[in-house]
Amino acid sequence: MIVVSEIGKLKEIIQEWKQKGEIIGFCPTMGTLHAGHMDLVTQSKKQCSKTIVSIFVNPTQFNDPKDFASYPINTDSDLQYCQEQGVDLVFLPSVEVMYPKSLTPIQMSIPSLQSNLCGRTRPGHFEGVLQVVSKLFHLTEPHFAFFGLKDYQQFRVISALVMELNFPLQVIGVPTKREQDGLAMSSRNLRLTPKDRETATLIPRMFQLAKKTLVGGEKNINTWKEILTEFLLTGINLKIDYLEVVDPLTLQPVTNLSGDILLATAVFVGEVRLIDNEILTCPN
Ligand code: PAJ
Repeated sequence: MIVVSEIGKLKEIIQEWKQKGEIIGFCPTMGTLHAGHMDLVTQSKKQCSKTIVSIFVNPTQFNDPKDFASYPINTDSDLQYCQEQGVDLVFLPSVEVMYPKSLTPIQMSIPSLQSNLCGRTRPGHFEGVLQVVSKLFHLTEPHFAFFGLKDYQQFRVISALVMELNFPLQVIGVPTKREQDGLAMSSRNLRLTPKDRETATLIPRMFQLAKKTLVGGEKNINTWKEILTEFLLTGINLKIDYLEVVDPLTLQPVTNLSGDILLATAVFVGEVRLIDNEILTCPN
């Protein structure tokens, strides 16, 4: 496995691979890798002849400096995990390599996809994601890029970026990997106290309740949201950042429980912000 921190060296290797006709798969991450990240790698290895993982905690996508400062870093075990999983190259740039002093700052956004969910409660977050992912795409020149559906809004935003700006690559969405009790795997789970970890199981249980009540005939979206909100709020030390029901494609709020809907939530358990979502099909 090759580990590269400099752009020049990375470009050399990519050039070589392209000349040999390799198909490049790319999995961008912020490290502290878990089995959810590795599902992206597994998918990439199925579809591509070379798999690149980037590990970079991107400062421009954190709207809360405290969140950035406490983001876990575990480079040694990440590299070992990548090696074990057969990753071909890890790109591990420093902040200085990704953001050398620039005189012309650029701001990117896709307003209609950012007006709700995390885009609403984390202003500036997707601007940072769009910026870093665009740079990483240009640096790694992948044929396929793999993103988790756990960060569904991110997946939609990046898919739109690629389509609207004609990036020559295909974005692939990978289903959410969960712990045995249903909690979506996340690097942030490590920061939960044992008590808060237990409270966090309210999130997957809320999605079960959502499905049960839909099948049970609930038709009123406001009543439905109230039931789900009340259920989440039984958690001690739990604060809801948002609980929204939107159209899975446009990410605009829906007013009826019909067709396919995206139920998405972000909650703080203690200081730790956790997100989850599911696309549900409403019974006729
Ligand atoms: P990070 O949170 O490290 O996630 C990297 C990738 O792994 C994302 O595509 C995310 O959706 C996916 N992922 C995380 N947990 C997952 C799970 N439980 N199941 C399936 N996929 C999962 O997302 C980011 O980093 C950053 O915003 C990034 C795209 C790297 C840009 O900085």
